[in-house]
Amino acid sequence: MDKIEEIWTEKYRPERLKDMTGQRHIVERLEAFVTKKSLPHCLFAGPAGCGKTTAALCIAHELYGSSWHGNFLELNASDERGIDTIREKVKDFARTIPLGGLFKIIYLDEADSLTRDAQHALRRMMEKYSGTARFILACNYSSKVIPPIQSRCAVFRFSQLNEAEMTEFLEKVSKEENLSVDEAAYKAVVYASEGDMRKAINMLQTASMARGQVTEEIIYSVTSRADPLAVRKMIGHALEGNFKEARKTLLSLMFDHGLAGEDIIKEIHSQVFELDMPDIRKINLIEKVGEYEFRLTEGSNAQIQLEALLAQFGRKD
Ligand SMILES: Nc1ncnc2c1ncn2[C@@H]1O[C@H](COP(=O)(O)OP(=O)(O)OP(=O)(O)O)[C@@H](O)[C@H]1O
Ligand SMILES: [Mg+2]
Repeated sequence: MDKIEEIWTEKYRPERLKDMTGQRHIVERLEAFVTKKSLPHCLFAGPAGCGKTTAALCIAHELYGSSWHGNFLELNASDERGIDTIREKVKDFARTIPLGGLFKIIYLDEADSLTRDAQHALRRMMEKYSGTARFILACNYSSKVIPPIQSRCAVFRFSQLNEAEMTEFLEKVSKEENLSVDEAAYKAVVYASEGDMRKAINMLQTASMARGQVTEEIIYSVTSRADPLAVRKMIGHALEGNFKEARKTLLSLMFDHGLAGEDIIKEIHSQVFELDMPDIRKINLIEKVGEYEFRLTEGSNAQIQLEALLAQFGRKD
């Protein structure tokens, strides 16, 4: 029987802070806490897949080694049924003495999805259990977290990972997996994953199922991000008034690559900014893109709307 392959996002999730890519200023501050074996309540803010959960798990690993499980509780504010369930779980968890004598760590994901009232209740919990537990709250936008919580936390702003940081990590994974990936393919992974390492690693794993070298083409065939070059060409044809060619590319993106109208229009939007033309014309095109994007979200037929958009691009007025 074939061995079921492990999911790479878990297989390669770093267990030590120093093995994380990027986020250097955060890693340094957290390492200092680990060395002193003290930790304030923390607020981790930042976009998806940039290392918030990973950093919290690394802290637990470094502080508690193999007994980290017993000292780490992960909750998701948007899954749990309201603040009362969170309170019950925290109470149960924080009731017992931490193994190893320090404190227990409660990682609460999507803290910014809690209502203001729930956040006030959370604040009271943070105070009540501060003798035995430390909260690490994670959110996308710290502005949605009430000031009394922010002022009780050390705030860490995680940034989106940049190209060099992502490539460095992806290269390590490829090496471990004996995967041959060309340079353009790494660029495509980074471009299509928009700084989200989870997306990037998943993309690489999916692409690895195809035999042989991982190329740019394979990457775009496994993502829902439209190939920027194909989209650029399509726009070029539309602007020249060559509607037939533009439409051919559109249909290939939709039906050969299985992309949704929204994915294609998103890429058209990015590519318009790259065009070599006066800003005033770009503004004009962006307005049109906006109008057609709205129509798509309202549920209109994607093929008809995108063809109409390409026809608009070809108009000389
Ligand atoms: N800075 C990083 N260094 C190495 N791997 C990373 C980094 N950031 C994310 N990853 C990898 O990406 C995946 C997702 O990371 P993680 O769970 O930490 O994201 P997150 O910031 O908590 O995102 P979300 O907001 O979606 O919960 C993991 O497999 C992790 O190994
Ligand atoms: Mg997370």
